[in-house]
Amino acid sequence: MSRCLDDYRLRLGNTEYVPIVIGGMGVDISSAELAHEAARLGGIGHISDAMSPYVSDRYFSTKYTKAKSLKHRASRDTTDKTSVRFDNQHLYDAQRRYVETTMEAKRGPGAVHINVMEKLQMGAPSETLAARLHASLDGGIDGITLSAGLHNGTLKMIADNPRFRDAKIGIIVSSLRALKIFLRSGKRVDRLPDYVVVEGPLAGGHLGFGEDWREYRLADIVTEIVAFLKEEELDLPVIPAGGVFTGTDAVEMMEIGAAAVQVATRFTVTQECGMPDKVKQEYFAATEDMVDVSSVSATGYLIRLLNNSPALGSNIKPQCEPLGYTLDKTGNCPYIKAWEATPVDENGKKLPVNDKICICYHFGKYNVWTCGHYVYRLKDTTRQLPDGSYQLLTAEQVFNDYRYSTEHQIALPPALAASA
Ligand SMILES: Cc1cc2nc3c(=O)[nH]c(=O)nc-3n(C[C@H](O)[C@H](O)[C@H](O)COP(=O)(O)O)c2cc1C
Repeated sequence: MSRCLDDYRLRLGNTEYVPIVIGGMGVDISSAELAHEAARLGGIGHISDAMSPYVSDRYFSTKYTKAKSLKHRASRDTTDKTSVRFDNQHLYDAQRRYVETTMEAKRGPGAVHINVMEKLQMGAPSETLAARLHASLDGGIDGITLSAGLHNGTLKMIADNPRFRDAKIGIIVSSLRALKIFLRSGKRVDRLPDYVVVEGPLAGGHLGFGEDWREYRLADIVTEIVAFLKEEELDLPVIPAGGVFTGTDAVEMMEIGAAAVQVATRFTVTQECGMPDKVKQEYFAATEDMVDVSSVSATGYLIRLLNNSPALGSNIKPQCEPLGYTLDKTGNCPYIKAWEATPVDENGKKLPVNDKICICYHFGKYNVWTCGHYVYRLKDTTRQLPDGSYQLLTAEQVFNDYRYSTEHQIALPPALAASA
């Protein structure tokens, strides 16, 4: 009989998990609710630390975004953002509260980790990253997944935290080379990561590849990394991500030495996912020709997104005073330059900015429809309703489909009862 993903277990330390990790999706797309479901079902879910003060304002009615905007209002009408800074205490407090609240509500045998986006420089990369990492550990997070843009000094930054050796720490890499560099930095603090997510070129979000991404295959990178770890006698679970769409895709990864899989796109159309329902319908409706890999992200990384994302061509003024998550340490962001270089029409109205998008503003508003390559197959995972829309799934349905399906089959959800 063919195997299913439930025939395997992921072991991290002394704990065994169903080998399904729901990847971090910022901003608040991988919501606490979604992560809780993964944990309840015995897997690992992620919340995301992208824009945590903004997310805190939404959930807890705090006023961090407004306070920051007011403090820096002097630069609102200029493109010089060198003085725009986060209040580190606010950042710490926002993130800690978000993590604590999430962890208090967690139930079940699984875990909730946080995806920490190192590429968010926030005007002061080291200080803000340290605040976010410490807040996550102090808030009781089960684990931290450091996402691409890894700093070599990251582990050192938290080596003095009492939970440094108790919380799980994972990294996301897209090549053996990146893994080797990070392992060297781990040696300095005598702390290896507890797992490594290997993200291939078909993933959603930002990619760790250049324009030649089509030349890489996830299975090849995984095979290379598994072989390297074996040679080095390093017992480090490898978790492939990107384009694992069916339970059988996952089993194929397990057969070449993976310890679990990280998946995301299939969960974007679940009730628990943080995106508005209207956007979930856009993901269902997407066709293959709408999926682009683009250089519009202000982070400088390529991003996969739907070509009808409302953020594209937006001319919004840079939102660095309230937001400013992609400012580098000199107060620059590629969107500011692109906005500045875009001319105005005869009425003085800014023309569409095509090179870059203000990702702080548009991610916060769910206007960047980032997705994995196979987003166009989501419609095959559910039922179409009489009005042409698609039936949302539950996280449990998708999780169990990955867990138990064989032969690349995808179980459709039970049909909704017709309303009277
Ligand atoms: C909507 C969306 C948002 C994402 N945001 C992030 C993110 O903020 N940080 C990150 O490290 N990865 C992000 N990812 C990547 C996922 O965590 C995951 O590794 C990858 O998408 C798995 O591939 P799949 O979507 O084909 O299953 C995102 C993916 C999606 C679909």
